[in-house]
Amino acid sequence: MGATVIVDAFWGDAGKGKFAAYLSRAYDADICVRAGVGPNAGHSVFVGDRLVKTKLVPLGLLNPRTRLRIGSGVAIDPSLILEESRRYRCRSRTAVDFRCPVIEPRHVVTERESAVLLEIDSTFSGSGAARAEYIMRSGLRAGEVDALRGMVTDVAKECNVAARNGRVIVEGSQATFLSVYLSDRYPYVTSDNCTTAALIDDVGLAWNAVDQVILLVKCIPTAVGAGPLPNEMSRDEIAARGLTEYGTNTGRERRRIRGIHFEMLRYSAMLNGPTEIALTYCEQFDRQMAGKKETRAITRRMRSLIARVERCVSVPVTYLETGKQYDSIIALK
Ligand code: IMP
Ligand code: MG
Repeated sequence: MGATVIVDAFWGDAGKGKFAAYLSRAYDADICVRAGVGPNAGHSVFVGDRLVKTKLVPLGLLNPRTRLRIGSGVAIDPSLILEESRRYRCRSRTAVDFRCPVIEPRHVVTERESAVLLEIDSTFSGSGAARAEYIMRSGLRAGEVDALRGMVTDVAKECNVAARNGRVIVEGSQATFLSVYLSDRYPYVTSDNCTTAALIDDVGLAWNAVDQVILLVKCIPTAVGAGPLPNEMSRDEIAARGLTEYGTNTGRERRRIRGIHFEMLRYSAMLNGPTEIALTYCEQFDRQMAGKKETRAITRRMRSLIARVERCVSVPVTYLETGKQYDSIIALK
């Protein structure tokens, strides 16, 4: 009983959606709730050869018993929620908080006209502009949108109640070093914080409802968009090593650093307070890990990375993610 938070240690694209899908099934979660900024994130997972991909509806949708919710701190695009819940036939179990800021088409226009957002390579989802207006106390809220009638609720209340009697999975989005007030790369950040505390605030969960915080650490971290990155690989080097990746949401080519930056990992862990670590994209770190699901498949090279990460942050590595399938995961406990 309690809530599990899935949070990204670095710059994103580490597999939060996939873990939300996996854990919603593994824990038979009562609620999977989306936290984070808004539809500037794209979450995806493969089930066989079927790609399940959303920008707002949580990927806990893979468990038909799980209620799908969007926290009040997430900026929403109503038409996207309707479209995604129709596409994945989960409308009857999908709902948003009545207080969510609503993104209107003019917010996207405002963002596209911003020289700063152009410079930082924003996704132009309208999330930041909608959030800014909301903070100026003139924003539209989800409860006022006719098209969402029957799909609005008090998500904060539902989640706090569900965490008392069952399991709530908080599907974070964006990532620690994209946090507007906590990253050192401002203005190359998103429009809110994206740490554990920020994510539970997006939902309205009380801190003591949380009993598990899984920090996702991508073995060879990536980032999309402009901004400083330490120890960055060149495009050629990325291609030569077969590590080219494209963003789920915008299709932009991902930038990449040479490996886990341990000083930044320590800082990230300090901000997020993880109870455990999931190492993701292990197959990129060691090809022999590709698609593996059993502990006996863990290579020596992989074990030494696990040991190094555990020494760095003083919490156990409990999951290894080894491929794009929703169940290509090795549970270590
Ligand atoms: P915005 O939040 O769309 O304005 O984007 C600001 C910066 O954060 C850009 O560099 C984006 O690429 C990046 N960003 C925003 N959301 C995500 C995400 O979910 N994953 C990875 N990068 C993101
Ligand atoms: Mg927030």
